[in-house]
Order: sequence, then structure tokens, then C-alpha cells
Amino acid sequence: MIILGIETTCDETGAAVLETDGDPTAAQWLKNGRFRIRSNIIASQEPLHAKYGGVVPIIAARAHRENLPGVIERSLRQAGVQVSDLDLIAYAAGPGLPPALLAGRDFVASLAEQTKTPVLPVNHLLGHLATGLIKNVKAWQQFRSADFPALGLIASGGHTVILLLQSLDVYKKLGETLDDAIGESLDKGARLLDLAYPGGPKLETLAALGQPLFTLPRPLAARRGYQLSFSGLKTAFAELVEEISSIGQLTPETRAHLAASFQKAVFETLLVKLKRAAETERVCSLIVGGGVLANHEFRRLLTRTLELPLYAPPLRLATDNGVQIALAALLRLPHEQPRRDPAKLDFNPIWSL
Ligand code: KG4
Ligand code: ZN
Repeated sequence: MIILGIETTCDETGAAVLETDGDPTAAQWLKNGRFRIRSNIIASQEPLHAKYGGVVPIIAARAHRENLPGVIERSLRQAGVQVSDLDLIAYAAGPGLPPALLAGRDFVASLAEQTKTPVLPVNHLLGHLATGLIKNVKAWQQFRSADFPALGLIASGGHTVILLLQSLDVYKKLGETLDDAIGESLDKGARLLDLAYPGGPKLETLAALGQPLFTLPRPLAARRGYQLSFSGLKTAFAELVEEISSIGQLTPETRAHLAASFQKAVFETLLVKLKRAAETERVCSLIVGGGVLANHEFRRLLTRTLELPLYAPPLRLATDNGVQIALAALLRLPHEQPRRDPAKLDFNPIWSL
């Protein structure tokens, strides 16, 4: 089967072609079936949003509309396939920014109409989780069979969700953020240090030059349960930066120490809950996905703190892309029929896992 995966939930326009061997709708396919990533094209809108310090939904939607034809054409060309070779189009139907989702849905509906290709709407967050399970076996890859029950974590710019998975199909949500997502929190902290959007990767670079010398809170750390909160931490950090800058001490060294302190506080706020969940629920492994998994320090802390087998995405597949959408389709195909009526394709901005 040849699958085109399309991502437009936020500020990356992504299209990827995946080829499977065998029939991924078969019940046992996920266990032994293999797939090959034949292309992965991403048009980032970072420069468009940087001057606003965050993603502007209608600008994102317009850019998706402009980018989609070229991104899809490049992904098909790189994969060496024609649009008529496609067996399935998978698109991210949520969660995400409504205008951005609408742009993706509309484009997919007209492509499906023209080509008579079946379509599967998939959950963007399931795609992030699926990237954590990729096992690299040269050109053809497989899903790794993780050890269940497993703790699941999605740590991205829009979401922070802790899951308990009995299998890839059976899971429940243990907790999520009550306010900012973890990536959003890193981006806001980075902005306070005058780092451009998206600040997460730049904060990582700056933090590596400093030490976590400053004391910052770990919100909700002592509270029972697995709910998370990051907004108070950002406020405390804003006050700290303001205080240091008002006495003229915001030197390059101090900025690096501030970055290291803030990044550590954000990660530990989450790690405390993950550790507790892992112990209470007696999980055997940790499956993770989302843009923040591009952070080396975060991956190191996850391994060191939880002392569990860690299933994490290849670095280049941590942030939003079309491969994750095609992978989510592979997880769903044994359970769900693709849609044949393009007029009935929908989207859901608050689609929860
Ligand atoms: O998963 P993703 O690409 O988009 C959403 O679904 O939200 O995640 C984007 C988030 C941004 O907040 C970005 O700053 C963060 O992931 N991110 C990082 C790194 N690379 C991306 N955060 C920390 N360190 C990184 N290296
Ligand atoms: Zn994402």
C-alpha cells in the first residue's frame, strides 16, 4: 500500500509517502509488517510567525494553502510515485488550529475527489506517539513492540499528555497540562531571553552554555495526581529575568545560567509526575513523542530519571511532519475503514487521544 500523509495542524506543512509490504488493514500486520519512508517534505513557516512571537492561525492557514500543492508534488516526486499510485491519503484532522486544519481538510477533500483515493482522518497526537515506536532496520522499518503496560508521553508545542497504555489500542489519559503546553512554556521562557520563536531549540543551545544556578518553582510537584501546570513557572521566570535585568546584570553568562535553570525547572516539573506515574502504575516502558523530544537533555533526563526502556522518535521525526500522520494511519487501519466520500471529511480542533 502507498500512503500519502499530510500534516497541517499548526505551522509546518508536511507531506510524506510511506510504502508498506503486505496489507496493513490485516489484524496481525502491526506485529510483523514493514514500511518504508519514501519521502518526507516539510515547509516550515517559522519566519512568517517569528515576528509575532508565536503562531498566528490565519497566517498559518494561508501558508498551508500556498504550500500544500508544492509540498505534495515534491513528496511524490522524491518517492518516485504518481498521484494515481496512491492507495490512501491520511491527513491530520486534529487537534490543532481550526483555520489550519480546515486548510488541510479542504485540500485533501479536493485531491480525493479528483483522484478517487480513499482517505483516513487521523489524530495528530497518535502520530507523535507512533514515531516513538519506529525501529530502524535499514530502508524497511517496523514498529517496535514495546513492553506493556507502558507510560505514554506527548510533549509538544500544543500538548502535554501523560497516558497509560495497555497496548497501542487500549489506553487512558492519566494527566495533562492545565495551562501552557511544555513546548509553549519553553518558547515563552526563551522569548523572555530575547530568543526568536520557536525558542525551544535556541533555549537548549543557550542552556548548554550555563548551569542551573537559579532557583525556580516546580508547579504542582507536591500535588497528588498527574495534572501539570507550567504558567506559574513562566511568571516566576519573568520576574527573575526582570529583577536581574533591572540591576544591569543580564550578562551573556547570566543569560546562559538563566536558560539552564528555566529549562531544568520545566523538565523536572514534568519528570516528577512521570516518575510517580511509572511507579504507581508499575509500567514496563516509556513511549514518547512530540517536538520537545528533539531536546537531547530532555531525552537524557527521561532515561536517567525513569530507568525504563525508552521508545523515542528518531530526532528528525520529533517535530511535526507528514510521516507521523501516515504512521498514525497504519495504527488505525486494522480498526477503521477509510472514507470514500470526500464531502464528508471532517476535522476536530480539540480531538483528544
Ligand atoms: O510537535 P511539534 O513540532 O508541534 C506541535 O504539535 O506543537 O512541537 C513544537 C514544539 C515547540 O514548542 C518547540 O519549541 C519545541 O517543540 N521544540 C523543542 C526543541 N525542538 C522543538 N523544545 C526543546 N528543545 C528542542 N530542541
Ligand atoms: Zn505536533
